[in-house]
Amino acid sequence: MNVSVILPAAGLGTRMGREKSGTSRKQFMLLEGAPILIHTIRKFLRCPSVTEIVVALRAEDIDWARGLIHHEHPSKPVRVVEGGDTRQQSVENALATLTSDVALVAVHDAVRPFIDSELVEKVIAEAGKTGAAIVGIVPVDTIKQVHKNKIRATLSREHLVMAQTPQVFQLELLKRAFAAARKDGFTGTDESSLVERLEEIEVHVVQGSDRNIKITKPTDMELARLFLSEEVAGQTA
Ligand code: CTP
Ligand code: MG
Repeated sequence: MNVSVILPAAGLGTRMGREKSGTSRKQFMLLEGAPILIHTIRKFLRCPSVTEIVVALRAEDIDWARGLIHHEHPSKPVRVVEGGDTRQQSVENALATLTSDVALVAVHDAVRPFIDSELVEKVIAEAGKTGAAIVGIVPVDTIKQVHKNKIRATLSREHLVMAQTPQVFQLELLKRAFAAARKDGFTGTDESSLVERLEEIEVHVVQGSDRNIKITKPTDMELARLFLSEEVAGQTA
């Protein structure tokens, strides 16, 4: 069974508050000498079920980032495609390049380098059985619904999960979800929301990990350095 991984990596990193060009952007920031994107690619190269990786990049990054990827001597095909103005558009561009022999598509934020390969295998296996599965964790904080700064409701934690990635779907299902979103002018912040609104199939949740952070704000880099040094120590122990 062919499993393609899509890594959207065409963002501007606005919340990181750095310069929005070249290596300054968060997906290319260095951790232990390698860009975050490369750390993420390495995790998926280690997953036995993954057959290929497709990275969506901004046009101006394609040439030099392709060089970075080649330098890794990847053990399976890693392709690059041009991303779009939204994360959804970047994923859609990558999706359009997948061939029909692909059974499952796993979409994973390029800026979540601490995903572990076992968890990837687990969510792929779940989607293999059910058609759609994502990684999520139960929130530790109490989540309120608000209007401006006034609370409208307190949501029961037992019915909440914070969606992470990977999010894995049958290829044809995900294609239908993107086509419907395009037709309806719907933009979501993850793939699951596009699949949910099709109301064809239930999306299953696999227990995620606190370490699978999405590097978003400057303080996340401190955590990222800590997590990576722990990973490196674990490998050599
Ligand atoms: N992404 C993308 N194409 C876009 C926007 C985002 O491929 N047009 C990617 C990012 O590069 C990142 C992932 O989607 O790997 C998750 O997005 P996010 O964390 O929001 O990153 P940015 O959009 O870069 O950051 P910000 O929202 O702070 O600008
Ligand atoms: Mg963004």
